[in-house]
Amino acid sequence: METIGHPNVSMLKMCTPIRLEMPWRTLHNYVDCGVLVMRHMETYKCNPIKDRSCGLLEEADDQKQQLIDLRVKYLVKILMTEINTQKDVVVADVDQFAKVPDKEKEALKKSSFARITTRVKASLKETPITVKTEDTKSQHYELPTSFFNFVLGKNFKYRQFIFQTFPSLYIVFCCHFHDKLSTLDDAEEAMLQIYCEKSQVQDGHNVLDVGCDWGSLTLYIAQKYSNCKVTGICNSVTQKAHIEEQCG
Ligand SMILES: C[S@@+](CC[C@H](N)C(=O)[O-])C[C@H]1O[C@@H](n2cnc3c(N)ncnc32)[C@H](O)[C@@H]1O
Repeated sequence: METIGHPNVSMLKMCTPIRLEMPWRTLHNYVDCGVLVMRHMETYKCNPIKDRSCGLLEEADDQKQQLIDLRVKYLVKILMTEINTQKDVVVADVDQFAKVPDKEKEALKKSSFARITTRVKASLKETPITVKTEDTKSQHYELPTSFFNFVLGKNFKYRQFIFQTFPSLYIVFCCHFHDKLSTLDDAEEAMLQIYCEKSQVQDGHNVLDVGCDWGSLTLYIAQKYSNCKVTGICNSVTQKAHIEEQCG
C-alpha cells in the first residue's frame, strides 16, 4: 500500500494489531474451520472485543456437538437457497424421506456415506475439471511477475495463509512455518520439502507438476534431484517466462 501511495497508510501505521483470544477458539480442530468462520460471521455485531461471543462453548465435547448442529444448519441453508438449481430435487428427496418407515430411515442413514461417495464420484466425471480459466488467468496468473517478486519468497511459492495452531507452531496452507523465527523463504522451502516427502519423490523419477505456478516445486525438484526429469504445466505466459529465466 505504501508503494502505491494509498491514503490510509499513515492511519494503518498507527494501529496496533491485537491477537483475539476468543474463549471458543480451537487449537486442535482442523476439520470444522469453515463452520467456525460461518458462526463468527453469523453472530458478528461489531461489539467491543471483550464482548465478542458467538455462543460456542469452550473446545470440548459439548462444542463438538454444537459444531455438528451448526454444520447441519448451514448445510440446510445452502441447499435451500434460491440460487441452488437443484433445490427442488432436494425438497422432493426430503419429502420422500419423511414418508419412509423409521427402520428403513435408519438403514438409509447408515449407508448414506457410501451413497454420497458414489454420487459425488459420478458427478465429478460429468462436470468440467475447471471453469472460467481465462478469469483466473487474468486475475492472478498473468499479473506482472515483479508483483509476485514483491510478495512471495525467493522460491515464488504461491498461496500463503497463516493459520495458528499452537502458540509456537504456525502452519501455512502452502508454506510451513516451523516456528516464529522462520522466514518466508524458510517456510517455502520447508513446504516444498514436505511435498517431496509426501509424494515420495526419488532421484531419477519423472515428475509431472500440474499447475506449477512460478515453478517453485518444479525448480526445487530439478535442483535437488539431478537425475529427475521434471515437467511443469501452467497456462500462463508470465509464469512460463519466469521458469525459463530461472533455468538460465
Ligand atoms: C492453484 S495454482 C497451483 C498451486 C501449486 N500447485 C501449489 O501447490 O502451490 C494453479 C496453477 O494452475 C495453472 N492452471 C490453471 N488453469 C489451468 C489450465 N486450464 N491449464 C493449464 N494450467 C492451468 C495456473 O497457471 C497455475 O500455475
